[in-house]
Amino acid sequence: MPVENKKYYIKTFGCQMNERDSEIMSQSLLRNGYVAGSDIELADCVIVNTCSIRGKAEQKALSLLGYLRKIKDSRPGMKIVVAGCVAQQEAQSLVERMPYVDLVVGTQHIYDIPQFLLGLEDGGTHIQTDLESDYTIPRFLPAVPSPSLPEETQPFNEFQFSRFVTIMQGCNNYCTYCVVPYTRGREVSRLASHILEEARLLVASGVKEITLLGQNVNSYGKTNTVSADGGPYFFADLLREVSEIEGLQRLRFTTSNPKDLTDELMSCFRDIENLCPHFHLPVQSGSNAVLQAMNRRYTVEQYLEKVNTLHKYCPSIAISTDIIVGFPGESDDDFEKTMELLETVRYHGSFSFKYSDRPGTRSQNFTGKVKEEVKSERLSHFQARQNAISLERNREYLGKIQKILVEKIFPDSIKGRTGSNHVVHLPYRDKVSLGDLLDVKITFAGKQSLKAIFTSGR
Ligand code: 5AD
Ligand code: SF4
Repeated sequence: MPVENKKYYIKTFGCQMNERDSEIMSQSLLRNGYVAGSDIELADCVIVNTCSIRGKAEQKALSLLGYLRKIKDSRPGMKIVVAGCVAQQEAQSLVERMPYVDLVVGTQHIYDIPQFLLGLEDGGTHIQTDLESDYTIPRFLPAVPSPSLPEETQPFNEFQFSRFVTIMQGCNNYCTYCVVPYTRGREVSRLASHILEEARLLVASGVKEITLLGQNVNSYGKTNTVSADGGPYFFADLLREVSEIEGLQRLRFTTSNPKDLTDELMSCFRDIENLCPHFHLPVQSGSNAVLQAMNRRYTVEQYLEKVNTLHKYCPSIAISTDIIVGFPGESDDDFEKTMELLETVRYHGSFSFKYSDRPGTRSQNFTGKVKEEVKSERLSHFQARQNAISLERNREYLGKIQKILVEKIFPDSIKGRTGSNHVVHLPYRDKVSLGDLLDVKITFAGKQSLKAIFTSGR
């Protein structure tokens, strides 16, 4: 069958880096004549883009691969590709357990899948997982604006007025629990001129919102030179230049490590008008002893100081975080300190997880592992309190006018998002289009989302 008629299907697990990687794989398949399929069972090529951040994420991808084996039994021509962080870390054992997988591509080889597929020999599994970190050959494909693709080949149904732009890959932090340095390699920043070119292309094609993406964006420019003249150029410089692109309505970034958060970057929330007032600032724990064991390299006091400074520069900023409960050695008293931190910062929202041992990490060998039932208890305790705080935080918006970006239009309602990253639902109204920026008045606050009405004049 000519490649032209072949359908591909990508299932993505994990973070926004993985979402963007799936988009890149999709783009390169489309450019090579594949079409996007809507049914995994009928696809000629299925890519499972895996995540290994926690045991659960990995399990989900592995069980999908088990299911695909059955489909492949009845459709032997189907090619199965494993990409992402599990592929990177566990290629050999994957192939031993799942010999029906045709191709295993690590995190830095997602660009060449069409070529690998052409070269596949029947029966064998091709593995490509070398990790390089030569920043002179950045292998980032520009984010092709989705609206230029015909409907049936859209890589994703996602909102086409908002796009990710990758600014760096890898991570040099070595938090003791984390697989990322092993799955995504050393930190490499992309040239500023390439990032700006890509962002300009997106905005010129109608994109309203850009999220700058990297494992640790505030180390941008620290490990390699990113400016044309070789001079100093860091994340705040990039943020400023991107924000000045004519027509860009909203700018966001993720993710940041509190240890590298400079005053210069925080003051961007005061100075850059289109920078959204939302900051995802993962703290992981409220106990200094646990933070030290995690190798986070900041204290709770230093973290709180940064939170205060952010509020000073931008009183309306919404702060969210990531929390791990049950890290090895975490005592009841340590966990209590995490609860205290939650009460102090009163996060708008958080992602919280039970600690899980990951292959190759230092904490895997730590003593003092916390029992599963204790972890579960701590997690539900944390989440219950966070939900109550999120609700209280959301109520602070009641009666206020907020600008929303329209993301989805249903037959009877409209979904948008505020700059602070709150989802807002509105009753349906005609003459509203995707990508519109509208003023609305918040009339109801739930713990997950807000409801609003259009302000008069619309
Ligand atoms: N166990 C539990 N949670 C983890 N995270 C990262 N590694 C682990 C692990 N081994 C969480 C952190 C991180 C988020 C993306 O996932 O909170 O910020
Ligand atoms: Fe998962 Fe981390 Fe890999 Fe993202 S970088 S896919 S969160 S393991």
